Amino acid sequence: MVLYAATSNPGKLREFATSASRQGIEVLPLPRLKEIPEPIEDAPTFMGNAELKARAYSLTEPGALVFADDSGLEVLTLNNDPGVRSARYADDAGFKGSGTKDQRNNALLLQNLGTNPNRTARFVCTLALARAGEILLRAEGTVQGEILSSPRGTDGFGYDPLFLIPALNLTFAELSPEQKWERSHRGRAFRTLLDQITTNRLIG
Ligand code: IMP
Repeated sequence: MVLYAATSNPGKLREFATSASRQGIEVLPLPRLKEIPEPIEDAPTFMGNAELKARAYSLTEPGALVFADDSGLEVLTLNNDPGVRSARYADDAGFKGSGTKDQRNNALLLQNLGTNPNRTARFVCTLALARAGEILLRAEGTVQGEILSSPRGTDGFGYDPLFLIPALNLTFAELSPEQKWERSHRGRAFRTLLDQITTNRLIG
């Protein structure tokens, strides 16, 4: 049986599919995803948003196992902002910096942190698996790090160039895709979900 991913992000799809194939599970993009009206992600938590997406999208493919993800960055000293608003942090704040959306989000984060020495942060990824509108499984993965004062590295996306793994003295944007997947919130959450799928014999 196939596991359908409710994401059209090619990078995420590739990571999910590669990881699942190691356990003999096939991950495919949910058919006609682009034609399905996007549910409004208005839950106050990552898991709430992952669940509402999984429920809505699983109704479009009856009988299929469909998973959705939601993720973001939490900075301790900023009351866990950007949190569920990670993707639209700068836009929501009306922050008018230059550059891409990711660059503006990063610029606002640096502005809000200023010279604050407490730069502890974590990425969170939540995954919800549903069938016919019913949530069957949930998984969460986190990774702890620190926010640098200026970006480093060219790989990755989003807040990766600011997110330092102190034990390696490397940012997520300085890791290879494989190194990042091994340590990342998304890799951790997805491996947990796969284990649960196998344990619950949902695929076999
Ligand atoms: P999404 O909902 O999983 O697509 O992620 C929401 C936002 O969180 C992204 O637009 C990024 O700003 C941020 N984010 C989530 N995961 C990562 C990551 O692995 N690296 C950098 N930023 C991330």
